[in-house]
Amino acid sequence: MLLRPVMKVVGLFAGIGGLELGLARAGHECLMFSENWPLAAHVLAARFPQTPNAGDVALLRAPPGETELVAAGFPCQDLSQAGRTQGIGGRKSSLVEHVFRLLDERPAPYALLENVSFMLSLDRGRAMARLVSAFEARGYRWAYRVVNTLAFLPQRRERVLFLASRAADPADVLLVDEAAPRPRVTALRTHAHGFYWTEGVRGLGWAPDCVPTLKNGSTLGIASPPAILLPGGEVVTPDIRDAERLQGFPQDWTAPAEALGRPAWRWSLVGNAVSAPVAEWVGRRLAAPGRYDRVRDGGRLEEGARWPRAARYDGERRVGVEISAFPCWREREPLHLFLNHPGKPLSERAAAGFLARTERAKLRFEPGFREAVAAHLEQMRAPLVAAQ
Ligand SMILES: C[S@@+](CC[C@H](N)C(=O)[O-])C[C@H]1O[C@@H](n2cnc3c(N)ncnc32)[C@H](O)[C@@H]1O
Repeated sequence: MLLRPVMKVVGLFAGIGGLELGLARAGHECLMFSENWPLAAHVLAARFPQTPNAGDVALLRAPPGETELVAAGFPCQDLSQAGRTQGIGGRKSSLVEHVFRLLDERPAPYALLENVSFMLSLDRGRAMARLVSAFEARGYRWAYRVVNTLAFLPQRRERVLFLASRAADPADVLLVDEAAPRPRVTALRTHAHGFYWTEGVRGLGWAPDCVPTLKNGSTLGIASPPAILLPGGEVVTPDIRDAERLQGFPQDWTAPAEALGRPAWRWSLVGNAVSAPVAEWVGRRLAAPGRYDRVRDGGRLEEGARWPRAARYDGERRVGVEISAFPCWREREPLHLFLNHPGKPLSERAAAGFLARTERAKLRFEPGFREAVAAHLEQMRAPLVAAQ
């Protein structure tokens, strides 16, 4: 069945509108948002002035009559590795139940969800089991897939995209495009390397020619940007405008939030967002579906077994699907040329703390990496020594 090129969308838990921006770039139209965080709502009002925001999802009685797609990047606090793993019944995650309440009120042909990939193993897979059962009970077929933002932009970010439909086969949308990633061979002197300077003992988030996943930071609005070791040896944290671009937004997308809160909150808004090009890709496939190839079908999913990185339900059976996290591969300039703004040098304190942690670490570091951070630390200390 051919789908109509433009769908009318309701964006629940819309944040700063990453999903909706991507869908709009693919030609779809957002009728309404639901977002109750004043900072995010302020950004939405500035960036989508024509689209009303219903605020708290709990107060939304039903989606508008013409709704064809309910989009929901529902809160991942309870679902994320960093959060308390209370499962889908947790206080925040139970907000996803509103998606079902709204679909019961007014069934929409499509629902598109997005969440952290840890959701697949959360609560020993029970969170996913409840999610898919809720859709199946309502007569939806579904497909999901882990997708990596690195397919589009120099950010490594894996998220689960989940599409349910009563009108068509979601596998024809999510599970048709696949490309082989062609990462560059990198060296410290020629390419930028991202990492988390706040880590260093158990993990590092080492990211050649890209940045590791931008995070949503603390609930107190303390920014937690990654660090980047540039080819020239400087260690910087990127400018927020480049962080926005690393998520596929135009730079300064979240600038309106500064009217209501400290600039550091922008990092939370950006870290929370769906990468716009990922949503755009789904939007394009929604408008022009492909044809799922059954050779990708893996084994039938057994009750209680681990959820694979991609799977589908065709109305009768749940099966795993062999497909990568890369729907495409966009050739692009190296990360250090992608960045438009000078970063902030990693402070002496941060660099010293990071190096001390790496000494206790059992990690294997890229040869020359610790030395490069130590040299940066010396540079940062030099002006202080000169002033004494
Ligand atoms: C993971 S973020 C979604 C990000 C969004 N998809 C984007 O691209 O920016 C979850 C959002 O749900 C919002 N939220 C939490 N509780 C809500 C509620 N009761 N009603 C509406 N939105 C809510 C949060 O403020 C947050 O912005």
